[in-house]
Amino acid sequence: MGPAVTVPYPGPLAQGIIDRMRAVEGAGPRTGGDDAPLVVDSASGSTLTDPDGNRFVDLAGSFAAATIGHAHPAVVAAVRDQVGRLSHVSSASMSESRVAFEEALVGIAPDGLDRVLLGLSGSDANDTAIRLARSVTGRREVIAFSGGYFGRGGGVIGLNGKARFRETVGIEADAHFLPYPDPYRWPLGRDADAGTGALALVRHALHDPASGVGPVAAVVVEPVQGNGGVVVPPDGFLAGLRELCDDHGAVLIFDEIQCGFGRTGRTWAAEHSGVAPDLMTVGKGIGGGLAVSAVVGRAAFMGHWPPGAHTSTFMGDAVNLAAGSAAIGVLRDERLAERSATLGTRALERLRTALTGEPGVGEIRGLGLFIGIELVTDGETRNPDPGRTARIRRAAFDRGVVLGSGGTAEQVIKLCPPLTIDEGLLDKALDLTSDTIRGTR
Ligand SMILES: Cc1ncc(COP(=O)(O)O)c(C=O)c1O
Repeated sequence: MGPAVTVPYPGPLAQGIIDRMRAVEGAGPRTGGDDAPLVVDSASGSTLTDPDGNRFVDLAGSFAAATIGHAHPAVVAAVRDQVGRLSHVSSASMSESRVAFEEALVGIAPDGLDRVLLGLSGSDANDTAIRLARSVTGRREVIAFSGGYFGRGGGVIGLNGKARFRETVGIEADAHFLPYPDPYRWPLGRDADAGTGALALVRHALHDPASGVGPVAAVVVEPVQGNGGVVVPPDGFLAGLRELCDDHGAVLIFDEIQCGFGRTGRTWAAEHSGVAPDLMTVGKGIGGGLAVSAVVGRAAFMGHWPPGAHTSTFMGDAVNLAAGSAAIGVLRDERLAERSATLGTRALERLRTALTGEPGVGEIRGLGLFIGIELVTDGETRNPDPGRTARIRRAAFDRGVVLGSGGTAEQVIKLCPPLTIDEGLLDKALDLTSDTIRGTR
């Protein structure tokens, strides 16, 4: 079933919910009048339905978390089965559901990462990873990258490389920000090699006392930046970080919360470079639509804490973890990483063909079904054009396609649909997106 907006959005039922939400949530959520308002009544596969019966294609993947699609039958069955038997026991208890998820996660994790600490959100997995790295090394300082996003937990909010995600909070995380090697926006010049340049800056920070960076506990990085605008670093960058962390005794943390779990055409984005971290954080799609996150890591680090050092009331939730096991099964059985690679290559070609010569489209890039379309005021200056990006998202929404956004100025259209999306539906939604971009000059 394709997109269908038959009642101009927001229809009366959606508007009613928006009004009630505004009353109880204040200015918190994005509702009505924003570039991508959304009131969802039900969701299935890649389709979101609003209370007035409008259907939208979820090319944003609901914050990139609907990796296996909404309400996948395997997840629905697993949840139904689990919830009647055991829903919650304290995280001090064990259950078949919990250990089965942990084993399944280790089963798909990179070699050498074979211990798990659970969480409920990406933020708390990253908090745990940073806290662990600090307690293992006895150091505090952390290197993060411009454009990075790690969540809103107290331990990581200061590491967010986008000012608007940390400005009002004032929680310091002993963070040092270095430029992420974005080949399109590398600050040291267009012809300079961003990967080599970025590594030189990390080396300087770690090894030169004049850098002012103290002994570093961890380097935390997204192998492909999501919120930063689907930025794929040059070959060799992650391998270089691995070497520098080993030399310095710093813990290397890969955040695979958005770019992992099949999104880029491999199970983990870092597989493209053959580099394994010490700790890897996972979340979003791995819960199959329920709240599951984890740190997966090397035993040498993960064994550092005594039993009971890491607890939270709901982190071993049996229902969520049954959904997580089902999601891992779906990724494997439906070969979704491979599907992401194939559909992603086709999607990139389709978009590039449709948008060839379109003024203001600076770059179309991606890996697997993780695609960014960068909007600029003109190709020469490459000045970001967040205004047009917002207009495109709003116009696409009115035609039944939900687009994500990213980039340091929110100038990138981000596509990360369910990896299960029907090919015909994907083509249709991509064509609508290209057409909308052309219509918003
Ligand atoms: C790379 C990355 N890390 C961490 C997070 C935080 O996850 P959560 O929103 O589940 O706390 C996000 C969320 O967008 C993310 O994209």
